[in-house]
Amino acid sequence: MNVIVFASRKGGSGKSTLAAHLAALVHRSSRSCLLIDADPQSSLTLWHRLRGTGEPPLRDGTRGVSDIVRAARRERYEWVFIDTPPNRSPVVADAIRAATLVVIPARPTIFDLTAVQETIDLARDGGKPYMVVLNSAPAKRDAVDSPIVARAREGLAGLKVPVWAGQITNRANFALALAAGEGAREFDPESQAAAEISRLWSAIQKSVGVINNAYEGARTVHRAAA
Ligand SMILES: Nc1ncnc2c1ncn2[C@@H]1O[C@H](COP(=O)(O)OP(=O)(O)O)[C@@H](O)[C@H]1O
Ligand SMILES: [Mg+2]
Repeated sequence: MNVIVFASRKGGSGKSTLAAHLAALVHRSSRSCLLIDADPQSSLTLWHRLRGTGEPPLRDGTRGVSDIVRAARRERYEWVFIDTPPNRSPVVADAIRAATLVVIPARPTIFDLTAVQETIDLARDGGKPYMVVLNSAPAKRDAVDSPIVARAREGLAGLKVPVWAGQITNRANFALALAAGEGAREFDPESQAAAEISRLWSAIQKSVGVINNAYEGARTVHRAAA
């Protein structure tokens, strides 16, 4: 089972947006996915209610996530997505402890980029792999990053922060789909928004594959040394 935690100290960076769109996509394929809303503002829960299908299943994690994650493991879920609040609540640390990968959405602005450092420190302190996803970015022109995105990438590269090579662009479809209780692909399968979420999901799966292989490798070395 893999646990993806969406975390950032910055409100409005896109934690709930990415969690919802990815969940709708993963759920659509046969893989089983559990959502945990650990934010008392409950944006993900609202989306889930608008969705009206009860799928993918969602649990309230505002009072802690470790028991829910343990139960999900017993129930053999393949994926758990945890949406977290932007404050310093203990539930964020609790979620990061349970994480296979921490996804840190950031808008390509100086305020967001400054705010990601605190979340990066939390992930690093916990020895957890993490990746920044530039969200709500200006559209590319002729497949070239906009200047603000290029500058954000440079700044993050200087801090040796892993950043997804793609971007989630600022698109009305992302907000409209959520308001309809849908993911980007359900809302409009041909949209750029749907294509971007698919690309992000591929990147997350690839990272998780590398993380799990590294973990297996370390265990093998450990066993050989024992
Ligand atoms: N890529 C995007 N394009 C358009 N609107 C977006 C995008 N990402 C987020 N938003 C909008 O920005 C607001 C904040 O996003 P949200 O996911 O709730 O942030 P967080 O959960 O980090 O506080 C929401 O109204 C959401 O619809
Ligand atoms: Mg949120």
